[in-house]
Amino acid sequence: MTAGSVETDKRLAAEYAASLVQDGMRVGLGTGTTVAPLLPALGARGLRLRCVATSPATAAAARAAGLAVEPFESLTELDIAIDGADQIAPGPWLVKGGGRAHTREKIVAAAAARFVVIASGEKRVERIRPPVPVELLAFGTASTLHRLGHVVLRGGPPSPDGGVIADWTGPVEDPAALAARLDAEPGVVAHGLFGPELVTDVVVASAGDLAIRAPR
Ligand code: 5RP
Repeated sequence: MTAGSVETDKRLAAEYAASLVQDGMRVGLGTGTTVAPLLPALGARGLRLRCVATSPATAAAARAAGLAVEPFESLTELDIAIDGADQIAPGPWLVKGGGRAHTREKIVAAAAARFVVIASGEKRVERIRPPVPVELLAFGTASTLHRLGHVVLRGGPPSPDGGVIADWTGPVEDPAALAARLDAEPGVVAHGLFGPELVTDVVVASAGDLAIRAPR
């Protein structure tokens, strides 16, 4: 598949997701290159929306597209959130955080009545494979790394919340077991495994065709 057709598939999935949004909704906006075409598609619809963004980059792009973005402070629930993924495995289990935003993305997904994952076809995998992004609390990072093992610092700036971005590079035999292990570690702020309880819709475009897994 050429790079051009991957971009076309991302836009197809994003534009379908934009069509799910209705006037008056509270909308969570993900982060990444698949979400990028969602923002102008949503802005062009001219709906009255209240949006929250999962990264400063998305907030800026959403405002440029004419969307009203507010801090995620007063809203307690969202009607829909739309975001990309690095891997989509049966379950569905997702890996997110390639764009370093998985902590905010998970909070937004958890707040949403409907969480729509959009992707081009190469994101589909039979099994989750490493790396799995993690965000660590800066305090005690060396100790957290020592306890976890198999976690490598990614380098680069901290997250917008001051966290240290790293990646689990060990085996992923069972995503639920790894998620539970990472959730149990006090130094892990959030990991990039998103389980079936978070995901309602999966929208994947491959070579111009859409495959849609509807809400549960
Ligand atoms: C950011 C993410 C992105 O959704 C994920 O990395 C997919 O990005 P892209 O749409 O650019 O392939 O989790 O933290």
